[in-house]
Amino acid sequence: MKVTVVGAGNVGATCANVIAHNDFANEVILLDIKEGTAEGKSLDIWQTAPIDMYDTRVVGSTNDYKRTAGSDVVVITSGLPRKPGMSRDDLIATNAGIVKSVTENIIKHSPDTIIIVVSNPLDVMTYCAYLNAHVDSSRVFGMAGILDTARYRAFLADALNTSPKDIQAVLMGGHGDTMVPLPRYTTVAGIPVTELIAKDKLDTIIQRTKTGGGEIVNLLGTSAWYAPGAAAAQMVEAILKDQHRIFPCCAWLSGQYGLKDIYLGVPVKLGRKGIEQIIELKLNKEENDSLQKSAVAVREVMGVLDGMQLETK
Ligand code: NAI
Ligand code: 2OP
Repeated sequence: MKVTVVGAGNVGATCANVIAHNDFANEVILLDIKEGTAEGKSLDIWQTAPIDMYDTRVVGSTNDYKRTAGSDVVVITSGLPRKPGMSRDDLIATNAGIVKSVTENIIKHSPDTIIIVVSNPLDVMTYCAYLNAHVDSSRVFGMAGILDTARYRAFLADALNTSPKDIQAVLMGGHGDTMVPLPRYTTVAGIPVTELIAKDKLDTIIQRTKTGGGEIVNLLGTSAWYAPGAAAAQMVEAILKDQHRIFPCCAWLSGQYGLKDIYLGVPVKLGRKGIEQIIELKLNKEENDSLQKSAVAVREVMGVLDGMQLETK
């Protein structure tokens, strides 16, 4: 099994490192446009293999897409990260050009691959990859929900003084301030979270989750990478091992939740062919209203991309 990670920056290198350490792929190609960066980081990662005891070969490449040929899964992390004061949407113009050219190169050399987009603004960059990949939407989707849910689960573990392993949750909507955490679908070892925590405390955690990306940008001056890299690697693992795992992912909707022709975070089942199923929860009115509001926000930014009229082949 072969995986390519495009972008050897913070998120891409972390993702490649986690994939290698989990030892489920034969080869990871790390590709970056910046001369030497991918080669240097790949060499460093590969030199952990004798220490950490794994076989996955990690190889770097400066923009040579021939090296990516025949990839089973490609993770796209190339693009600018957020800086303090920037919204994810501020990144659209620059990152759309990058995601478009990367997608074209990837599909040329790996026509059967599955693409996971990480670059921001996430929902719209996933749409951009889809427009330029010209493949079924079950093979082009985005990573955000696993990260956002992980933040929510980590904050809950702190508040409840419990293991994060026991916290199960789902979160929907766009990767932004309009995301929709769902307390009704949050459990701690099977116990509804609402039985374990006061409403005001849960509301505070939900609010912190919604601004969780910005919290780290303000602390570090750039966006997060450990959890984003691990989240993308978890999706790659579910695909390559055909695990049929259910994760919140950014998927193309064709009528589910009353929404059509939009990329939005929803629970999906992931297996060897990519998205096997989009799961439709029976949302109550308040939950559905929040999801529809989030869809309006995402559609607005999709409109900005459409307005840019980047040529698609
Ligand atoms: P970074 O700046 O550390 O790395 C980006 C890398 O992309 C750089 O090494 C750069 O040389 C490379 N690059 C730029 N243009 C390229 C091209 N045309 N081809 C190949 N490589 C190219 O940024 P970081 O922190 O790794 O973030 C990457 C992206 O992921 C950003 O857009 C960020 O906003 C996004 N992100 C998304 C998350 C999510 O939940 N979906 C979470 C965290 C970050
Ligand atoms: C994050 O949520 C900025 O999207 C990035 O960390």
